[in-house]
Amino acid sequence: MPFEIPDDLDPALLPVAFLLGRWVGAGLGQYPTIKDFRFGQEVSFGYVPGKTFLDYESRSWLLDEQGEKIRPLAREHGYWRPQPDGTLEVVLAHPTGIVEIWHGELDNGKIELRTDAVARTATAKEYSSGHRLYGLVKGDLLWTFDMAAMGQPLQNHLAAQLKRTDG
Ligand code: HEM
Repeated sequence: MPFEIPDDLDPALLPVAFLLGRWVGAGLGQYPTIKDFRFGQEVSFGYVPGKTFLDYESRSWLLDEQGEKIRPLAREHGYWRPQPDGTLEVVLAHPTGIVEIWHGELDNGKIELRTDAVARTATAKEYSSGHRLYGLVKGDLLWTFDMAAMGQPLQNHLAAQLKRTDG
């Protein structure tokens, strides 16, 4: 079924309505300090009638060569807050002891975000900034994540392609 915008969605969310629903797919991970890996990912974007944020959740798994799940990897939860001037604010929390405030731009199915602030618990790994791109390409959600962490300059950690799912 083609995606339909819910009747009770607050109009402020129309610029990000294309994200609504559940997305499933896989991607590649890398960083100079770790081994390359394949990961599976499930993402969901929800809404609350009358409210002007999207409820966001991502879960991921390490995949083997056959694409089977080996073990859980990263998760993140947060809220996406589109603004009337076409910018986007995002707050994210990670179980690794990191919280982020993101700021970015929305452009017709493309989103670019940069961290505005990062805070870490005493035991979290060293991570100082991030850059994310999201884009709707032929109905799929593509996204990439660059980070500056572990003493390394900003560079790619993740890239994934997700498909919309009803399940
Ligand atoms: C889909 C999301 C993600 C996946 C699948 C993923 C996967 C991984 C994997 C497999 C490792 C190697 C160590 C391990 O097995 O845990 C790793 C390390 C790391 N990741 Fe991620 N990650 C994700 C998101 C993130 C995010 C959002 C951040 C920062 C906020 C982050 C920061 C790091 C850091 C700092 C390391 C440590 C590298 C080191 O120990 O040298 N990752 N990640």
